[in-house]
Amino acid sequence: MKNVGFIGWRGMVGSVLMQRMIQERDFDRINAIFFSTSQAGQTAPNFTGKTSLLQDANDIEALKALDIIVTCQGGDYTTNIYPKLRNAGWQGYWIDAASTLRMKDDAIIILDPINRANIDSALNNGIKTFVGGNCTVSLMLMSLGGLFAANLIDWVSVSTYQAASGGGARHMRELLTQMGMLHADVAKELANPHSSILDIEQKVTAKMRDGSLPTDNFGVPLAGSLIPWIDKQLDNGQSREEWKGQAETNKILGTSSIIPIDGLCVRIGALRCHSQAFTIKLKKDIAIPDIEQLLASHNQWVKVIPNDRELSMKELTPAAVTGTLATPVGRLRKLNMGKDFLSAFNVGDQLLWGAAEPLRRMLNILC
Ligand code: HSE
Repeated sequence: MKNVGFIGWRGMVGSVLMQRMIQERDFDRINAIFFSTSQAGQTAPNFTGKTSLLQDANDIEALKALDIIVTCQGGDYTTNIYPKLRNAGWQGYWIDAASTLRMKDDAIIILDPINRANIDSALNNGIKTFVGGNCTVSLMLMSLGGLFAANLIDWVSVSTYQAASGGGARHMRELLTQMGMLHADVAKELANPHSSILDIEQKVTAKMRDGSLPTDNFGVPLAGSLIPWIDKQLDNGQSREEWKGQAETNKILGTSSIIPIDGLCVRIGALRCHSQAFTIKLKKDIAIPDIEQLLASHNQWVKVIPNDRELSMKELTPAAVTGTLATPVGRLRKLNMGKDFLSAFNVGDQLLWGAAEPLRRMLNILC
């Protein structure tokens, strides 16, 4: 059995990864060793049924003894430890949730339902570094995979509706705290059906603006509002999140000529499901039933939701999809711009296919 070290297993993505690995009995196939950046020597988790102590995640010699490292510890850890480990001659497999190494030539972005062939050929070529993709990119590919695989996409324009979890655990807490504070401020008036809704709205708006909501993580109120910028500002006017759309998608697909993908990434008050609206320029006019068939047959997680009001409201929402591996896609229809312009809308759990699931599947490919 391979010796597999886990770093950052206690954080949000790491915890989801552990839950999924327990559900799928992945620990039966490996010798798991748990590391910590701050609590080495304390008792390690007992997911595998055996007791052990946490090892030091900064101990290069201990890490060098591993066949595989799976890290959800974040970019700073990768930046600090990965080069030291490779420079020390470590030849093991590095599986990472952070973006640090994603675009390196000797790293593969892992999303095996989409790029298993690329993963296999990378393994044959001795590639040892495998990195989970950006969540919006992975979720887009999981739901639109059939159209990409059939080489039917000319370009994609996207508008995202991204959940708080993409920022991290503290962001989720901040959003919920903001929601609670806004509600608490008007709870009495709300309980009275005869109160004026405009008075209530004014009070909520004043609360949003008076500086009393916690905003350490988002920088501004998100509850009752939205934030049309995610991640750093680039010199070309894109946000870094927007830049990733084209860069990572084309790397995952291994395209020989770039498929243009661009749009606006927006943070909304959902908890852990990202949604995205797409305008897709098709290479040719294809009938909607054929598009539905291509999409639905691509992988076992995508589900085509017929373009129907009731079904879209029930099945194509964060409320319906959160906590599941489903990556539904719907609102499929031709746009007024022409018969080769398709609209689509997808939803996916940001912590599952958007983060943890590709990592555990890569581990299983190796073990
Ligand atoms: N950058 C994404 C977000 C999550 O902020 O929603 C990570 O892929």
